[in-house]
Amino acid sequence: MPVRGCERIWHNGEFIAWDDAKIHVMSHVIHYGSSLFEGVRCYKTRRGAEVFRLDSHMDRLLNSCKTYRMDLPFSKQELVDACVQTIRVNSMEKCYIRPIVFRGYGDFGVNPFTCPVEAYIAIWDWGRYLGVEAIEKGVDVCVSSWTRMAPNTFPAMAKAGGNYLNSQLIKMEATKNGYAEGIALDTSGFISEGSGENIFLVYRGALYTPPLFSSILPGITRDSVMRLAADLGYPVQEKVLPREMLYQADEAFFVGTAVEVTPIRSVDKIEIGSGSRGPITERIQKEFFAYVEGQSDDIYGWFTPVYAPERKRTPAKEVVRA
Ligand SMILES: Cc1ncc(COP(=O)(O)O)c(C=O)c1O
Repeated sequence: MPVRGCERIWHNGEFIAWDDAKIHVMSHVIHYGSSLFEGVRCYKTRRGAEVFRLDSHMDRLLNSCKTYRMDLPFSKQELVDACVQTIRVNSMEKCYIRPIVFRGYGDFGVNPFTCPVEAYIAIWDWGRYLGVEAIEKGVDVCVSSWTRMAPNTFPAMAKAGGNYLNSQLIKMEATKNGYAEGIALDTSGFISEGSGENIFLVYRGALYTPPLFSSILPGITRDSVMRLAADLGYPVQEKVLPREMLYQADEAFFVGTAVEVTPIRSVDKIEIGSGSRGPITERIQKEFFAYVEGQSDDIYGWFTPVYAPERKRTPAKEVVRA
């Protein structure tokens, strides 16, 4: 039975029924992986439904389009508005938002320029990506035998559908072997990221995360967590990290729109720290959830309200935290 996420999907500026959001089998994207997409969360905060870091997600989408020379006939503001409108017409209070842009049905060859660019926004209610227990207890993961794409092959900074063939190999291997997730190394053997999330390590009291040149997606949760962790007195260092630091770390956790902040309790059956969520992970997790669930104030202006009129935003650089 196919899953239905919402009633209405945004398509090139208009709303269509979920069941009408169909494409031709000869669309370029099906044969050549030419899609660019985002994953965004709308949270039910105490102020009402609000979308977390929508501007940053739309910036990344437009940068993905730029890299793949995909001309999108919508401005960033139009895309932001379209996401908000999609939530409104579906009367959702919280949801996961999937804007996707791809090369449609035109000609049959690899050359994408002859195919029209199509844009859709679908939403659905998506709970805890790695399960409810994972948030508290953590997950058991492995290092994948698959590496992330080499530099100058597939651009890791673009969130392209084709990149997720690599992610699928990592995820399938991990789940077949009984792990919740796999961590890929980069082509030099340094830690890169999970199949759909970035990684942080706590090592001797300091926080580390791999840099952009370790073939990671520049995660928006990664950026948010770096800021929140620094506020808590844990500045994050972006460093090339050897594989063995996974096993020797005191704590480790994944971050991403889907996984939010999820502790890692073991890697390749080697316990991380005490084999449960570590204290620094817990503090950062609490700070993150307090922010996204709207218990704390939106001091960085990261939220876009869905139903309420636009609140006055506080630009990040002007924020001084006590
Ligand atoms: C491969 C990969 N890395 C990292 C992330 C985390 O990115 P974000 O925090 O922007 O969701 C994602 C999720 O989109 C991903 O698919």
